[in-house]
Amino acid sequence: MHFLLTLLLLYASVSRALYVQLLPHLLPGRNLQRDNSTYRIAHVEDINDNDETFASNARPGERCGPGFCGITAAHCNSPDCQLGYGTCDADKTPQGPPTKHIIRPRLGSVPYGEAIMSCKASLTFAMTFDDGPNEYTSDLLDILDKFQAKATFFITGVNSGKGQIDDFSRPWGSLIQRMHRDGHQLASHTWSHQDLNKITHRQRRDQLLKNEAALRNIMGGIPTYMRPPYSNCNKSCMKDMAKLGYHVVYFDLDTADYLNDSPEKIQVSKAIVNDALSNTQKSNNKPFLAIGHDTHAQTVYNLTAHILQRVNETGYRAVTVGECLNDPRDNWYRWDYRNST
Ligand SMILES: *[C@@H]1O[C@H](CO)[C@@H](O)[C@H](O)[C@H]1NC(C)=O
Ligand SMILES: *[C@@H]1O[C@H](CO)[C@@H](O)[C@H](O)[C@H]1NC(C)=O
Ligand SMILES: *[C@@H]1O[C@H](CO)[C@@H](O)[C@H](O)[C@H]1NC(C)=O
Ligand SMILES: *[C@@H]1O[C@H](CO)[C@@H](O)[C@H](O)[C@H]1NC(C)=O
Ligand SMILES: [Zn+2]
Repeated sequence: MHFLLTLLLLYASVSRALYVQLLPHLLPGRNLQRDNSTYRIAHVEDINDNDETFASNARPGERCGPGFCGITAAHCNSPDCQLGYGTCDADKTPQGPPTKHIIRPRLGSVPYGEAIMSCKASLTFAMTFDDGPNEYTSDLLDILDKFQAKATFFITGVNSGKGQIDDFSRPWGSLIQRMHRDGHQLASHTWSHQDLNKITHRQRRDQLLKNEAALRNIMGGIPTYMRPPYSNCNKSCMKDMAKLGYHVVYFDLDTADYLNDSPEKIQVSKAIVNDALSNTQKSNNKPFLAIGHDTHAQTVYNLTAHILQRVNETGYRAVTVGECLNDPRDNWYRWDYRNST
């Protein structure tokens, strides 16, 4: 039995594509099952020629980097596609002037370039949603409205085959505009959900700058808050985030929603939140910084309403990360006043 398992895992590790199919639930931010590969495959004509560094590495007809070649959605979609060969969706660059020239003063009292693990304002509950927007996000916004709750969205620019967020032939851009209008906080979860500890300094900067340009194309500005994918941001990564003027936000309450995305299991996530909000915790009005993912059906259609109900019953308020840190809204974004043509 063990031998068979070992053999299977060994085989799985040989093929990353297979690995991803076997363990999709262990990889937050990936939803390959839902991908419709037909329109998501990168075509040769999509090869990005805007990017001087990467374009020279791309060869016509090659869909990916060495060691991970193929033409399926899993090969060409970030975060699984190999960066830097011009064929991943992640290798594309949003339109408009780059954002690197935007000045980045460090306003407010929330630290920049160091890990923020928890909220400050008592009886606040900052619900955060990573990896979206996606097909469920519109319904999630309706649920938040119903509870008059505010939340924070850590937005990824181009992951899991959804296309670029600033491609207005898709719904993402207008969803993000609605989040902004509704009073939620918009933050960055990088351009293509790479592990920031596994890419170069240059690629790390690109991951933030490209997402900035896409968000600027949507809302006219760039966020000052970010969350590193897989919660990975080592010392040199932190230095880069500090230089780019980012607050780096983790969490102190993991709903584990991505592990429990079924009607049978989601109770586990509900129990985690119930327990956190139980009287012992509440007695010192401890605030919470919670993580979930709007890419999961149970999170949107079951868990979120439960959480918001509980939050309200226990006298907590569902607020944005900025608000739970007592950071005025003006500090959440930097505006790009240049013409964007
Ligand atoms: C995927 O796209 C094809 C072609 O556009 C369509 O026929 C099919 O119904 C789609 N499948 C899903 C699961 O959306
Ligand atoms: C952080 O990750 C980078 C990869 O981008 C690696 O080269 C570097 O050694 C790591 N730095 C530290 C301080 O761990
Ligand atoms: C919601 O979660 C509960 C468990 O807490 C489960 O029994 C129920 O079937 C779920 N509802 C839906 C619509 O998935
Ligand atoms: C809970 O909801 C009720 C009804 O919508 C509202 O009046 C009350 O202020 C809420 N409580 C908190 C702590 O937000
Ligand atoms: Zn993520």
